[in-house]
Amino acid sequence: MSRLGQDTPSHTIMVTGGAGFIGTNFILHWLAPEFRRVINLDKLTYAGNPNNLSHISNSRYSLLIGDICDRELVAHVLRTYNPRAIVHFAAESHVDRSIHSPFDFVKTNVDGTFSLLEACRLHWISLDPKQRAIFRFVHISTDEVYGSLSSNEAPFSEHSRYAPSSPYSASKAAADHLVRAWWTTYGLPTITLNCSNNYGPFQFPEKLVPLMILRALAGQTLPVYGDGGHVRDWLLVTDFCRAIDLVLQHGAAGSYYNVGGQCERTNAQVVQTICEILDREKPRVDGNSYDKQLTFVSDRPGHDRRYAIDFSKIQRDLDWRPERSFRAGIEQTIRWYLENEEWVTQVTSGAYLQWIDKNYVLRSANRS
Ligand code: NAD
Ligand code: DAU
Repeated sequence: MSRLGQDTPSHTIMVTGGAGFIGTNFILHWLAPEFRRVINLDKLTYAGNPNNLSHISNSRYSLLIGDICDRELVAHVLRTYNPRAIVHFAAESHVDRSIHSPFDFVKTNVDGTFSLLEACRLHWISLDPKQRAIFRFVHISTDEVYGSLSSNEAPFSEHSRYAPSSPYSASKAAADHLVRAWWTTYGLPTITLNCSNNYGPFQFPEKLVPLMILRALAGQTLPVYGDGGHVRDWLLVTDFCRAIDLVLQHGAAGSYYNVGGQCERTNAQVVQTICEILDREKPRVDGNSYDKQLTFVSDRPGHDRRYAIDFSKIQRDLDWRPERSFRAGIEQTIRWYLENEEWVTQVTSGAYLQWIDKNYVLRSANRS
């Protein structure tokens, strides 16, 4: 265990899955004020990268390598560090992987969330009343639990019906139900955030935005699923991190918030925007646009057509709204990938290459 102090629990939080994309960005955000501390429990799957945060002083940050399914380990960490809150990011997060191999999704997202809730509940009831009142379990979830919208339906609100389509979203929906039950039955002070598609620095390049940036630069095809008309609601990850921070400080126990970017784009539009920015920032040597590399390929099974988020509740209660426009956010993200070649080289070997083979090599061009 590290030298991370146990003396100021009110400034110490525990994060699960903090070596992944959103967790890394959140830890960097959380640690901006110097008095704050973080314990990061992460199993370091293919998606977890300890180097993202290795520059942070170990008096303020501690990485504990372990599985959220290990209830004894979680209980030990909670007893040792006595954090004032948990932010639960750890998950298997990629829809396409959940279609190829759903087992790990149920294991981590459902069993893991259950184990974590039980360890937290037992810890929470052992706290003195003052600590118990401020403790929070912040569960990071997704808009995908609501399923798919048609083009004329209103965006998802906190009252939308759960109708998950993929093994990933079904496992996240199951986790959300467990979290809700632990609040309703035991009073464990949980808060659930259902957020739309994030993009930004440190995202593993299996997801649309970094995949397209890196494949474009490598001169490879840009594989858009189906007709490219599927719509996502894009949010820069730093905007999501601000929402999580606000909820940690001011969110009421037992509450739910939808978080989104008010930024609906089709996948073809997203890829087109990436190509336009790259054409300016790093033109192809032959003078052609990167959009020459765009290829429509066979669709994702069960592919949700549209997501959109109504974030009026978090705007009303906590005065949150997205700050960064899509164009500015994508430009910033592209620059980050261009400037961080070493990070890119490190994550685009081994497990990444195996995944690209598995998901794309047999995906035929879509001629429908
Ligand atoms: P990610 O795949 O980049 O990172 C997941 C992290 O969890 C990795 O560091 C991994 O090592 C760790 N992890 C996996 N299994 C674990 C286990 N059993 N025990 C401990 N650690 C484990 O994911 P992300 O994109 O950063 O997403 C984080 C959370 O946010 C997830 O719960 C996801 O469902 C949710 N979410 C993501 C988005 C998005 O657009 N990325 C949007 C909404 C919600
Ligand atoms: O909506 C929130 C969710 O967003 C999160 O809960 C998930 O963890 C996160 O992975 C993300 O899920 P998506 O499936 O929407 O993200 P992904 O980047 O995989 O795909 C975005 C869209 O782009 C989707 O409609 C599928 C499409 N796509 C994706 C890839 C990887 C392509 O057309 N081609 C691709 O190669």
